[in-house]
Amino acid sequence: MTASGTNGVHAAPPQVTKTAATPPVVVPAPVNPPKQTILSLGALPPRPTAWHGKGPRTPSRIDPNNPPWPAYRGYHEYSFAHATMGHRLPTILGKAIDDVVRTLNEQSDVDRIVDLVESIARMQDLMEDLTGNTKLRPIVDDGEGDIPLWNKEIAQFFQGKDFMNAPWLFAEAYKYRRLHECFSVSKYWKDYDVFFRQKCDTFSRSSKAVFELSMRFSKPWKQVESLNATQKQEAIRLMFHELTQVCLWGNSTDLSLLINMTEEDIKKLQSTGGDHLAATEKNILGNDIPRLWETVKRISQKPDGRIDFILDNAGFELYCDCVYADWLIQSGIAKQIRFHGKRFAWFVSDVTRKDWDWLLNTMVYGQLFPEASDAQMDSLRAMGERWKQYEREGKWVYEQHPFWCTGYTFWDLATEAPDVFLHLSRSDLVLFKGDLNHRKLTYDCEAPPATPFDMAIGPMASLPGAPPVCSLRTIKSDVVVGIPEEVADRLNRDEDGWKISGKYAVVLLSDGRPGEKVRFQSQGRFAFQ
Ligand code: F6P
Ligand code: MG
Repeated sequence: MTASGTNGVHAAPPQVTKTAATPPVVVPAPVNPPKQTILSLGALPPRPTAWHGKGPRTPSRIDPNNPPWPAYRGYHEYSFAHATMGHRLPTILGKAIDDVVRTLNEQSDVDRIVDLVESIARMQDLMEDLTGNTKLRPIVDDGEGDIPLWNKEIAQFFQGKDFMNAPWLFAEAYKYRRLHECFSVSKYWKDYDVFFRQKCDTFSRSSKAVFELSMRFSKPWKQVESLNATQKQEAIRLMFHELTQVCLWGNSTDLSLLINMTEEDIKKLQSTGGDHLAATEKNILGNDIPRLWETVKRISQKPDGRIDFILDNAGFELYCDCVYADWLIQSGIAKQIRFHGKRFAWFVSDVTRKDWDWLLNTMVYGQLFPEASDAQMDSLRAMGERWKQYEREGKWVYEQHPFWCTGYTFWDLATEAPDVFLHLSRSDLVLFKGDLNHRKLTYDCEAPPATPFDMAIGPMASLPGAPPVCSLRTIKSDVVVGIPEEVADRLNRDEDGWKISGKYAVVLLSDGRPGEKVRFQSQGRFAFQ
């Protein structure tokens, strides 16, 4: 089955004519984004065979084409993989082409123009490959460090596979690397981010929630002096509980799903008030926040407690992450926070270094919110200045390892990026934000919903030295683990589209094996299972 055969609406790519003698000429074609937000996809058809959660594959037989439980693949009409590969990705790519055409029309230098026209031609080729469901070819060697990781994985596991029959996770990630390649082989546009405008724009349309948080949290946090020790501990626990949820629900604004959302829609999703959070807590279907608090209390006893964020989306979600991280520092729980972002534009809204810098600088120097009061702008500036100061002092560190933008799941982190595993093993808590990170932790496969989180994340829980890992994820795709079976049964029966609406969430914790010496096996994939 080809993607184009299943795809109702997608953006028409611009037509690029190439001749030997003259530079190519671009004629942008009109783009027709979908009228509805993709969130209203509704029910997915039922899975055709009787799959009742058989046991997982034995570890030695697990590989990227054969996850522990059956993989989701684009041709599975019952899964969100199908809608994504056949409909959402071509739409996203069409909008990306629009963005580049807009940039092209703002250029005056002929070399830069011709170079960018060639990038657009490559994007059009990618659109043809995607909608024509061609086989996955190696990534062109653009001199970047991740090439061996990509091409080794393609050669070892995906020879002859196409966009629709490769596991969804790999095929989707591959599309974003191919999109990056359209620019990485250019001369002037190597770091061009086709989603940058969208990311900034959505943050600028989030003013209500942005100021709700800045007005509350810009002043340095301190305990009320009149409280006794028990009351102080309870006050700090309550704050932790609230801010963990602010951080969690910040993940519901994901640009790849929110195409065409109105400002009102965004406001509803971003409500950060205490009452709203209490009401939405019942939507956290697997809720380890109480256990997470016990972990955090232990960290606060350490003189050098470190917490890592494996970041997800830029803009409002990153802002919520930073509000949380700010409080974790101010309350004395952590002495250092390390943030891990992406090396290039990834899954539309993910944080890159440029997004990180943009957020902190726009808070201090920007004029994004013309309607804001002086007090609101002051609060945003004060918070931005404090965050920049954390960076200068090394209390906050931003990093970007190539592994985060590969098609590997985190079951392969220790084997494919042992340096990252070792680095994370020294953390006291690693918070994985969002849906894609959750898919990668759990191998994005059809594990039964009641599968314990530890089991679903395999080596990230069971390897010696594995740090405590927590997934803060609003549910936006098929894989769901760590929730009671009866809850999944009820939602499957009563609520169409519950796995893709972003209305439900999980906060799942694995204790890991911290403190044990990390050892790497020279051979074999999961030697420590
Ligand atoms: O395209 C599907 C997807 O990869 C899903 O995982 C999710 O719906 C979205 O894109 C990314 O979500 P997040 O930004 O939370 O990782
Ligand atoms: Mg994302």
